[in-house]
Amino acid sequence: MQFTGRHILNIDDFTKEELLHVLQTANKMQTQPPILQNNIMASLFFEPSTRTRLSFESAMKRLGGSVIGFSDCDDTSLAKGESFMDTIKVIGGYCDVIVLRHPKEGSAQKATEATNTPIINGGDGSNQHPTQTFLDLYTIQKTKGRLDNLHIAFFGYLKYGRTVHSLATALQFFNVTMYFVSLKTLKMPPKQLQELKKHIECVEIEDINEVAPQLDVIYATRIQKERFQYEADFQKIKGSYKLDKTFLNIAKKDVKILHPLPRVGEIQHTLDYTPNAVYFQQAHYGIPIKKALLSLVLGKV
Ligand code: CP
Repeated sequence: MQFTGRHILNIDDFTKEELLHVLQTANKMQTQPPILQNNIMASLFFEPSTRTRLSFESAMKRLGGSVIGFSDCDDTSLAKGESFMDTIKVIGGYCDVIVLRHPKEGSAQKATEATNTPIINGGDGSNQHPTQTFLDLYTIQKTKGRLDNLHIAFFGYLKYGRTVHSLATALQFFNVTMYFVSLKTLKMPPKQLQELKKHIECVEIEDINEVAPQLDVIYATRIQKERFQYEADFQKIKGSYKLDKTFLNIAKKDVKILHPLPRVGEIQHTLDYTPNAVYFQQAHYGIPIKKALLSLVLGKV
């Protein structure tokens, strides 16, 4: 299993053994001494982020490493017209690893053509969000005790939801049944669904109540305003999907509710104080997972 110097671009690039190895490495990170003392991470965020950027930066610093980077392109020479590729080429020489978020699909892959420094994809448009998937798998494993024999519903905005695309791909390796719950206009990309169906049972529905008593895990997602070309299209479907405490009356007692966050109304605050809500725990699992990914890519574990 080779992680040192590896780019982390798409979840499809990983075998089941590799996915599990990252989760096992994360388990050991609580007591890890500062092994990244001589390393620098560049955090390049061309699109807004709270969790991905700050959990990577926190993980790097907690392991003794240093962080450079930007979260606003207007503060860089991109504002003067410098190209994306020149920017990556230059910064690649200033650091040991780059964490990149960009609104355009394929940007992380493109960046690998500009530098030999490992690129970690922190989300590229509506394509993929592989590091989120590692922490989602970790959350499911920690809160349900397993990754097999689960009924999992993906709920909300599936068409352009990069976290859903990546997590559904990774879960193909496990014995799960997936329910895709969305409006007709927000369904999973047909090509991906067709591929998933080759490996596991997939069911598409519009109302989560139809399958509520079967579910072990619900993965709710935000309707992403920024992916709509027209504001009017967003306004039409805004607020279509909501989970509140009444849902627990028909759900399994131990169902776990995940959300990559930020939420904008899909999960009502009344759910926050139930044992079913694990989305804040999920966000905090970003630290051991990012520590594990950085240590693996930098060849320190
Ligand atoms: N889950 C996630 O990617 O959150 P941010 O957009 O805040 O990084």
